[in-house]
Amino acid sequence: MTDIKAYVNHQAELVSERLSILLSENMLSTVLDAMKYSVSNGGKRIRPILAMEFARACNGDVASALDFGCAVEMIHTYSLIHDDLPCMDNDDMRRGKPSCHIAFGEDNALLAGDALLTEAFTVLSSVKNIPAENIVKAVSYLSSFAGINGMVGGQVLDLQFEETNPTVEEILQMYSLKTCGLIKASCVLGCLAGEECNEDKIRASIDFAENLGIAFQIQDDILDITSDEATLGKPVGSDEKNDKSTIVKHFGLQKSKELVKEYTDKAIEALSVFNTDTDIIKQLAFMLVDRKN
Ligand code: IPE
Ligand code: IPE
Ligand code: MG
Ligand code: MG
Ligand code: MG
Repeated sequence: MTDIKAYVNHQAELVSERLSILLSENMLSTVLDAMKYSVSNGGKRIRPILAMEFARACNGDVASALDFGCAVEMIHTYSLIHDDLPCMDNDDMRRGKPSCHIAFGEDNALLAGDALLTEAFTVLSSVKNIPAENIVKAVSYLSSFAGINGMVGGQVLDLQFEETNPTVEEILQMYSLKTCGLIKASCVLGCLAGEECNEDKIRASIDFAENLGIAFQIQDDILDITSDEATLGKPVGSDEKNDKSTIVKHFGLQKSKELVKEYTDKAIEALSVFNTDTDIIKQLAFMLVDRKN
């Protein structure tokens, strides 16, 4: 059996090295420094790792999947830079360091986010060894899972729900957009890097990511209450400070922990469509249930 923690750490290092290469060929500027600062170190790299594992599950080219995953990671990093801004969650720590706007100012943080979003599509459209048709599909999936019908749409609801009292269904809808969106993009793009990719596998990867993403966001909300800043690398108590509507606020910690397990089990069920070895993906999902950051 694979030592999943050692395996994940190694994969995360590959992602960090590749991100650093992908960003190195750009015009030097303060905004590039801010982009590199936020992208480098500290992130768990869950999304690119999922992209690579779904490529493996579809007998794919892992190097291409790594670049697909790095594109998602750039968009994820932009979402975190903007999420921390004073006009949003107003948090001054991220990935164990001062947030981008604390280190570089709000103006540069805004632009670093914009540039990472744009750069993601430069990376995506330059991926080698993938049929052009699948690159076009990857651009289409990533843009829709990241935009107004995806992550951005979820962030809009997240802000609206500071003012209102949403139902559980509405909170889950917000999680599905703001968090599952980029996780779905990672898994689907991984499949698209695979030779054995088909519609059933894409659907199954979306089903997996939907359930894993909900579990992931509930766990994030739990850690916002139970963890400490040094372990988490970002402030605790941010949700309470901003009066966020979360599943934990609605159901309490105990029931929320059970829900993390239930959604993770449902995610794993979705993998039955794959006729290849998905053991690493399963172990990764279980690892996230017990994560501390
Ligand atoms: C944080 O994502 C934002 C959420 C969707 C909960 P991660 O927990 O994946 O953050 P990093 O990339 O490891 O910093
Ligand atoms: C963020 O949710 C989801 C994003 C799309 C960025 P949170 O606001 O809970 O994420 P953290 O806790 O700041 O990482
Ligand atoms: Mg937020
Ligand atoms: Mg936040
Ligand atoms: Mg949070």
